[in-house]
Amino acid sequence: MASRPGPIGGQPISPQRRPMLVRCIVIGIVLTVVLVGFVVLVVWLAVRPQRLVYTVEDGKVHGFDLYKNHLNASFDFILKSYNPNHKISLYYDSIEVSVAYDDKIIAFDYVDPFHQPRHNVTRLEVKPMARSVPLMGSVSKNLRIEKSSGQIELAVLVKARIRFKVGIWKSSHHTLKVYCKPVGVQLDPSRKFETTYCDVNS
Ligand SMILES: *[C@@H]1O[C@H](CO)[C@@H](O)[C@H](O)[C@H]1NC(C)=O
Ligand SMILES: *[C@@H]1O[C@H](CO)[C@@H](O)[C@H](O)[C@H]1NC(C)=O
Repeated sequence: MASRPGPIGGQPISPQRRPMLVRCIVIGIVLTVVLVGFVVLVVWLAVRPQRLVYTVEDGKVHGFDLYKNHLNASFDFILKSYNPNHKISLYYDSIEVSVAYDDKIIAFDYVDPFHQPRHNVTRLEVKPMARSVPLMGSVSKNLRIEKSSGQIELAVLVKARIRFKVGIWKSSHHTLKVYCKPVGVQLDPSRKFETTYCDVNS
């Protein structure tokens, strides 16, 4: 009886072997994922990142002048920036503050870069100015009406480039956006300013 040619390479692979290998790889991947997840969880629990808290503490306007739909005004705001984190400090590398009325940006200011330590409150004074800012007829009309009522409702927006620092590790840049509205600026200095709480996204 002529022998039939066997499989090349002699011994056939045992049918159990290949699924074993696949199983080992799958178990290895699952264990790695679980381990990485565990490390991330432990680091996260140790650091406990908390959202930054921003409020507008005071707002004033002077030199308010609206003439032929052009606005001149000098604003003065005190922003309170609170970093509630016990393990994370922040580098503010650039900070832009803008003031909007009726969704239109009317004034700008910049804050010098600073480092905010852990669990720290920093007060930022900004003085955005509007110089001959052209307004649409309807916007100008609303602003005039609000002014005569004694209070102007504005929005204050902060856009900052920040980095986080945990121990000796520093993160890459993130954009922080702070949106404060409504900020009711009183034209009558005897009326009290009401603190505005801001939405913070980072
Ligand atoms: C705003 O101020 C500029 C000079 O700083 C002046 O030329 C302009 O007339 C002023 N505009 C208004 C509306 O008062
Ligand atoms: C917050 O940090 C700044 C320096 O970055 C410091 O001048 C200020 O005193 C600190 N505030 C508090 C309440 O510790």
